[in-house]
Amino acid sequence: MENKTHLVDEITGHRRMRRNRKADWTRRLVQENRLTVDDLIWPIFVIPGTGIVEPIPAMPGVNRMTVDMAVEAAKEAADLGIPALATFPNIEMELRDETGSNSLEKNNLINLATAAIKKAVPNIGVITDVALDPFTSHGHDGILRGNEIVNDETVEQVARAAVYQADAGADIIAPSEMMDGRIGAIRQALDAAGHQSVGIMSYATKFSSAFYGPYREAISTGGLLKGDKKTYYIDPANGTEAVRDATLDVEEGADMLMVKPGLPYLDICWRLKEAFGLPTFAYQVSGEYAMIKAAAANGWIDGEKVMLETLLAFKRAGCDGILTYFAVDVARHLAKK
Ligand code: PBG
Repeated sequence: MENKTHLVDEITGHRRMRRNRKADWTRRLVQENRLTVDDLIWPIFVIPGTGIVEPIPAMPGVNRMTVDMAVEAAKEAADLGIPALATFPNIEMELRDETGSNSLEKNNLINLATAAIKKAVPNIGVITDVALDPFTSHGHDGILRGNEIVNDETVEQVARAAVYQADAGADIIAPSEMMDGRIGAIRQALDAAGHQSVGIMSYATKFSSAFYGPYREAISTGGLLKGDKKTYYIDPANGTEAVRDATLDVEEGADMLMVKPGLPYLDICWRLKEAFGLPTFAYQVSGEYAMIKAAAANGWIDGEKVMLETLLAFKRAGCDGILTYFAVDVARHLAKK
């Protein structure tokens, strides 16, 4: 029986962390965080036309869908219990211009998708982005004048676009373009248009990251983008600056905060949750998804386990939920457990 060594006993005394880990039932009892379907927001890509579902090569398992197919996907997501979708349009190149004027078309692709989804599946939340990158011929999130992404003019435009998105039925506006003053301006514009109950989830801390590559393929902005987004996204080196940026968004009226990318920025998730206590979300972005998928496809990791572990890590870091391309896979997994 006696298999203790004197040495270990002397060091640990009565303290043995492994007591609580000894069986499945003890582990379940002491588990601090859990991932549930209620934590999931599913980002989807919408294309013009009907009846088309096309794969995105750099994001195996993720498709671009026409509005009718997106409605079917929304039904499936709702049936699985996924609370909300985040929609991103891949519009025709002919519609893209210097200022992203299509963002101000009442019946543009993103608004048609919102209206169709909300009509067919009223109980799923629709979260829309107002950044201009899907609409500009240069792939930047704002209006380009000379060499500059002009702040105030962009803010005015995204605030107007937000009202059209809310008119179409969007439940939450999620501005990702990182212009200064955008949250306050969008709040004012929504309220003036009678959209007091439409929320704002701020992409409060969006970093100038290399993890967005596959997304840019998904909405065809990769080839268009000249230069980088360093003059408006946050430097990955800066955590305190990220908290300051989020402070302004909270003061301007953000209802929820988001950190993007996700896993490399868990410290920011934790800091924002501690600082503000607002509902806080992480966006597990396209590059994070692609890395897991690629390693799994090579047999180098267990893709499902890594997926679940990364999502749980967000919960541990203080997140209330995660935008993830894995949402449907996870929901299916949790449903069969
Ligand atoms: C831009 C935007 C980006 C993503 C969503 N909206 C980043 C970018 O292209 O610079 C990235 C999402 C992802 O990588 O999954 N407004």
